[in-house]
Order: sequence, then C-alpha cells, then structure tokens
Amino acid sequence: MPTKHFTRTLVTTALPYANGPLHLGHCAGTFIPADIYVRYKRLCGEDIIHIGGSDEHGAAITIAAEKAGTTPQAIVDKFHSMQKDALQKLHISFDNFSRTSLPIHHQTTQEFFLDMERKGVFVKKTEQQFYDEEAKMFLADRYIVGTCPVCGHTEANGDQCENCGTYLSPTELIKPRSKVSGRTPVLKETLHWYFPLGRYQAQLEAFINEKEQSGEWRPNVINYARTWLKDGLGDRAITRDVTWGVKVPLDTDEAANKVIYVWYDAVLGYISSTKEWAQKLGQPDKWRDYWLQDDTRLIHFIGKDNVVFHALMFPAMLMAKNEGNECRSSGSRSEQYVLVDNVPASEFMNIEGKKFSKSRGYAIYLHEFLEKFPADTLRYMIAMNYPESRDTDFSWKEFQNRVNGELADTLGNFVKRAVDFCNSRFDGQVPADCTIDDWNALGAEFIETFEKIDAAYEGFHIREAAFLTMEIARRANRYLAETEPWKTYKDNPASAAKSMAVSLNLCFSLGILLEPILPETSVRILKMLGIEKTVCWNDAKTPKLQAGHRLSGASEILFKKIEDADIEPELKKIDDLVKAAEEKDRQRQMEQEGQKIETAPLKPEITIDDFDKIDLRVGTVLSCEKVPKADKLLKLTVKIGESERTILSGIAEHYKPEEMVGKNIIVVANLAPRKMRGIDSYGMLLAVEGSDRKVNVVMPSGEGINGKAVK
Ligand code: MF3
Ligand code: ZN
Repeated sequence: MPTKHFTRTLVTTALPYANGPLHLGHCAGTFIPADIYVRYKRLCGEDIIHIGGSDEHGAAITIAAEKAGTTPQAIVDKFHSMQKDALQKLHISFDNFSRTSLPIHHQTTQEFFLDMERKGVFVKKTEQQFYDEEAKMFLADRYIVGTCPVCGHTEANGDQCENCGTYLSPTELIKPRSKVSGRTPVLKETLHWYFPLGRYQAQLEAFINEKEQSGEWRPNVINYARTWLKDGLGDRAITRDVTWGVKVPLDTDEAANKVIYVWYDAVLGYISSTKEWAQKLGQPDKWRDYWLQDDTRLIHFIGKDNVVFHALMFPAMLMAKNEGNECRSSGSRSEQYVLVDNVPASEFMNIEGKKFSKSRGYAIYLHEFLEKFPADTLRYMIAMNYPESRDTDFSWKEFQNRVNGELADTLGNFVKRAVDFCNSRFDGQVPADCTIDDWNALGAEFIETFEKIDAAYEGFHIREAAFLTMEIARRANRYLAETEPWKTYKDNPASAAKSMAVSLNLCFSLGILLEPILPETSVRILKMLGIEKTVCWNDAKTPKLQAGHRLSGASEILFKKIEDADIEPELKKIDDLVKAAEEKDRQRQMEQEGQKIETAPLKPEITIDDFDKIDLRVGTVLSCEKVPKADKLLKLTVKIGESERTILSGIAEHYKPEEMVGKNIIVVANLAPRKMRGIDSYGMLLAVEGSDRKVNVVMPSGEGINGKAVK
C-alpha cells in the first residue's frame, strides 16, 4: 500500500517505437501488466487514467524508413495505426493513445526546452563531428562506414564493427566514408545542448534513497538506478544534427537544422498525451489535475532497459522544469510537476528458452497471435509468467497446457456446468440463498484469498494476483465436483439447491475477479448470469446472488481447446530458425578462427557423356544389419525398382541399422561389384562428411521415386 495519501493515479506505459509491429515482449513487459493494474483500480472505483502512445522520433524510426525505402512519416503512420489496432484487440484500455508526431507534443516539448533554455539550465558544448560536404549534413554515427581499426573489416559502421563486435566512434575508423554520398567526410564544429544530469546527482540520490526506504520499489529497479548513480551522472547531449524530430525552437544560426534528442521528447509524450486526452474530453485544463498536483500518484510501467530514463532522467527534467516555479501568486495553481511514485519495471520475457530474439528472426507478433488465439488467452499466459523480478519464458507447449487445463477444464467447465445445471433443473433461477457462512465453510484459506489478491495488486505482483484468482476458480470447481448436485438432485433437492447457490455466487465472484486479467471472459460470465448492472470489485467478496435471481438462460463454452495442430506451425518455425542460426554461428565461428571451410579442389572437367555413364538410382532400404567383426560396415538390402541387391557401406559409426530401414538413398547402381569381408557389394551409396566428421547419407524425399534415375 502506498504510504502517502493519493487522490488520483496516472499510469503510463512506455511508448513503443512506431517502427514495427508489437511483439510479445512489449505485451509482457508493459501493456498487459499496466492494463491489469488499471482495470483493477478502476473496478475499485479509484480515479485513474492510463496514458500511452507511440514514440515516433529518433534513429529507430529513420533506420526503419531507410530499410523500407520510404519516409519516416510513412513508417510512423503505418505502425502507429497497426499498433493501436492490435492493442485495442488485446483490450488494453487506454484513456488515450497518442503520437509524438502530433503538434500538441511538439509544442509541449518545445515549451520544456525553452523554459530550460531561458533559465540557463542547459550546458552548450562545441564538438568536432563528421560532416558530408556534398550532402551538406552532419553525419550520425551510423551514416559513416570505414575500415575497422581492430580487425581490418572494410565495412565497419561508425558505432560498431559488425565483424568483430568492437564498439567504435566514427573518428576511430580508418578511411571513413559517408554512407550518404560516399565521400570522405570532414570534421566540422557543431554546437550541442546538454542536459546537466550531473547537477541533479544529489537530488536524485535523495530521491532514490527515499524510494528505497519506502520499500515500495522493486529491488532490481533501485539497483539499476544505483549503478548509474555510482558511476556518476554526466551531461547528456539532448540535441542532434538530423532532420526528423522536434525542432530546436530557437531562431539562431546555431540552432538551425537541429532537433531535440528523442529521449528528451519521448518522456514528455506522457504529458502531451494527457493534454490530448483532456482536449478530447472537452476539458482542456484537466491534464493539470494529473500532472501539477502533488496528490497524484504517477506510475510508469516500463521494461528494465528504460529504467535510467524513468527513474533518473525524467525526474531530473521535471526538477529542472519546476525550478523557479515554486511559488505562484495566490489563487493560481502551483506549477510543480509531480515526480514519479513508482516504476514497476519488468525483466524480459524470452521465448522458448532464450533461443530467440527479434534480431535472430523470431518474434511472436501480437497481431498475428490474435488472428489465431483469443486475447484473453494471451493476457492469461502473460499474467502467469509476468517477469516481475527475473526473466521468464514463453513456451507454446505451456501456453497450450495452461489454456486447456486451467482456462478450459477448470474455469470454463466450472462456469458452464453450474449455469447449465441451473438452467436445466432450476428453470434458470438461483434456487436458494447463499450466505457468507456458506463461503466460510469453504475454508479459511479460501476467504483469505480475496485479501491476498488485493495486496498482490497493490504491490504490482501481477503473477501472484493471477495465480490467486485461479485458486478461487480451482476451489469453486472442486466444490461443485464434490457436492455433485446432479446426483443429490433427486434424493436431497435442498443439498443440490445449496450447491447451486454457492456455485453460482462463485461464478459471479469470478466474473468480477477475472475482469482485470480476462476482460472478455468476465463480460461473458456476467452475461450468462444475467447481470446487467455495473459491478464493483468489492461485490466479488461476498455472495450477491440470492434465491430467485434469474440467469440469462443461455450458456456458452468460454474457452476452446488448443490442439497440437494449432501450435505446430510455430514450433516448426522455431525449429527451422534454430537450425539456420546454428549453421550461421558455425560458419561465423570458423571464419573468425581463420579456418577455411574445407573444400577439396575440383576434379578435371568431364563431359555430359562422361556423367551419363554413371547410373544413379533411388533405392529404398528394406533391411540393414551390422557386418560381424567389421566396426564400420553396415550391410543393406536395397530395393531398386523390381530388383533387390546387397550394398555394404562404411557408415556403421554414424547410423544404427534400424535408422536406415525404410530410408530412400541414392545408389551408384552400375558400379562393378566388390567383395568386402567375404560379402559381395553391388554398388555404393552417396553420402557427405560434415565438418564435424559425421557422415550424412543423402536421403532424397518424394512420392514414387524408388528406382528412378537421379539426373
Ligand atoms: N520507445 C522507447 C523504447 O521502445 C521507450 C520510450 S518510453 C518513453 O524503448 F518514456 F520515452 F516514452
Ligand atoms: Zn572489426
């Protein structure tokens, strides 16, 4: 529980770069936990808004545009709407999802910049930077290539050599060239504005100390912040010599052609998105209630890679903005921006045991996922694997097991059985009263669960909250199975009626408790129960449906089971990618070790007639056995068309006899027979030795190829 009293809460979710589709990492780290938390608080009746948007500036965008051969504007337009659409389908209930390319955001950022410029907050420094005289532009690191001073690779980038991995600065490159014109760039002086983060070191230390003492912040977030503080905070350049971004709002030669650094503007996106929300509401000043009142609780949901910007940089920017605005003439409101109360930063969610990253070519894209599986199944899977204090893993098999076992068999079955039985035997009416004593009878642990769920949400323990909620479903399911109303119905109708009343009240309770995690399912449960009025969180904690309450009369299956065939294409994709990545790694490693991939020199040229003399046929292995006293030899019986023949092959160290049976192989079919170990061998099979010395028999596939010639 927060120690301070807050009147309202402002939740922000890290603005994703609008440079590609959203993937599971975004959902697990920020969107889903934030939405679960916000929905919980809304149900509790608290004043809370959820603010987000897309981050549409910076190199992430311009690089994507270059790759796609289009403009930055086209990229952000495309991916902003795509992301927004996918988030809606995931039922992320934003109060506003904005864009940093909007005028309201540019104005907000420029106002912050000008305020700091006027107050003399910034430090200005001149530095030497590469300039392309033909293109007439300063070159960002990634626009310069040259020879790596470490490994001699001639296509090293200005920031890193891809060949040896060394981090570089552009001036270290030998023979630098501009990627824009190809010319040798010249060093030219340029002026940049720096935010003096170091000046706020003491204030930030005090801030982090206070947070640590409150015990409310996650230890890993405190640790990330401390690491930065320990290293000592320095000045951070907040202008760039590029064209895409928020223009530096000064009318001087020095400021011409400069934009504000993306991280300075992105965090201000939270403020401009709140302003846009207020405008849409028709109360344009309402954003001030959230940002300029100290009884607002500001919470940033982010991933661990963004901690420094949210725990140190943004607070320092707001401290700078607040300077000189402490006192206002009486009557007008204070102009003090509220600093963050908590930063529930997540660790990462890996996929299938860390084997993947987006750069390695595998990501689970949100829009694709939602084409195949319901949003609630993903929300559930992520809630149960939320990377709160350590990295977690997404596995397709686990997804299938959880959906089938927990959502379909436990939750879905329980609700459907209870509702169906009430509809068929009790005319769709709750047949008896249910009291809190009936629930108490389910065990002290059961009743305590409600309080534990609250505590879990208050502490941002999303996984624990989800787990405890499922405990209620499990207990309810067990209760129904144990009381067996379908059996007692005849001889002990009162017992059956009680069982129904308790079960239906548990359905109602689950309909509310599940809302934060499974919003769609919650609506469906409440609808089956015939609940039309709005509910609130506390309604879940005591039985609310009394005798005579009418259900809707309908019932439905809440979750469809996920078949093996549904997840097989994903597993296959991963398998193929692992193989490709391993092969690539092997090659890279050999290249790095300076080894040539061994290839023997080519034999003298032959004519097609020479080749024609060799009769290569597809044979199928009918049986296979080891040759006694010959470690390396296998004896194969091979069918080629209508005939069968014996072939001896030196592959016994690489294949077990049973592995060969049924396989198609390629046989040199007109080779003169040869005797080995007293056995005649009629032909040879084709195989290739790998770099690991393993022999791989060539095994062609295809329908009806046995006996056919290989050409
Ligand atoms: N776009 C950034 C990223 O994806 C996050 C920006 S968070 C904000 O890493 F604070 F700047 F909005
Ligand atoms: Zn190198």
